[in-house]
Amino acid sequence: MQTELLTRKDAKVHDHAPAIDKLYDRIRHVVPEIEWHLFKDDIREILRLKKERNAIILAHNYMTPEIFHCVSDFVGDSLALARQAEATEADIIVMCGVHFMAETAKLLNPQKTVLIPDLNAGCSLAESITGEDVRKLKAANPGVPVVTYINTTAGVKAETDICCTSGNAVEVVESLGVDKVIMIPDEYLARNIAKKTNVEMITWPGRCEVHEQFTRQDLQDIRTNNEDVVILAHPECPPDVLDEADFAGSTSAMLNYVEDKRPNTVALITECSMSDNIAARHPEIAFVRPCNLCPHMKRISLKNIRTALEDNLFEVVIDPTLAEKARRPVDRMLALKK
Ligand code: 13P
Ligand code: SF4
Repeated sequence: MQTELLTRKDAKVHDHAPAIDKLYDRIRHVVPEIEWHLFKDDIREILRLKKERNAIILAHNYMTPEIFHCVSDFVGDSLALARQAEATEADIIVMCGVHFMAETAKLLNPQKTVLIPDLNAGCSLAESITGEDVRKLKAANPGVPVVTYINTTAGVKAETDICCTSGNAVEVVESLGVDKVIMIPDEYLARNIAKKTNVEMITWPGRCEVHEQFTRQDLQDIRTNNEDVVILAHPECPPDVLDEADFAGSTSAMLNYVEDKRPNTVALITECSMSDNIAARHPEIAFVRPCNLCPHMKRISLKNIRTALEDNLFEVVIDPTLAEKARRPVDRMLALKK
């Protein structure tokens, strides 16, 4: 049976019962057949190893289609992946995403093995700030709560009151009931959320290297050249880009928007694989592609997922004392309503 392939309303389970070549149907609109022949041995082996090792693969929406549609058990945005990491009963979690996502999964599952296929899959936001930076910010702003984007290291989370993702930042900020917060490290996310909450933000000059590249002019050009286009943008984009967009939301919110409204022509102002993964399932929708690649996400491949499962590479390890402190703001975020 052909299962639901692409996530709607956060993560969804992929059914791997179909024979290997049947899986190609899931991606044939976006992956040429010649490439399928390069992928299928690794896919077969990954599916076998997952079963043998009681492992699950959590895949971010920016994974390439052969990972997203053919080997993952759950797909979603950062929030959905954290929730799935919290809920899983598997012995091994393979995080197909970037390091902070794997680290968050490990914080939530100290007893489990959490693997990331490439240890260098980082994030410009996570690299922009340290725990020491947060301590200095707190000292300069006594009593102001710290809201930290999940795109950070455990050392930064450990200094934090509550975490947020792009999917719940408004709810997290409003849950504090204060008129000022320190919101780190994404300056654009903080400014975009400030507009929606009327909460004053003390920001940090962190940027997503992928989303900061989009400009208002890019979106105006897209509108000029594509009649009836619907433009969706990620909240890591600059505020004037969001002003020009028709909708702003997390990667899963964008995906759900397209699946619900089925516009004829869409521009997703985000990482390139988002459009590919939705187009795989909706060949009837035209995608304008002014996308940018995330070099960190693109480090994850079928080859290194297979090696991860074969050789237990690379295991995420966090000092237990640090992990205990870093887990608290993640738990506090996850305790908010879904
Ligand atoms: P989402 O939580 O919206 O998937 O964003 C994660 C990310 O890294 C976007 O660049
Ligand atoms: Fe980090 Fe941006 Fe890549 Fe997301 S897209 S992982 S925020 S660098």
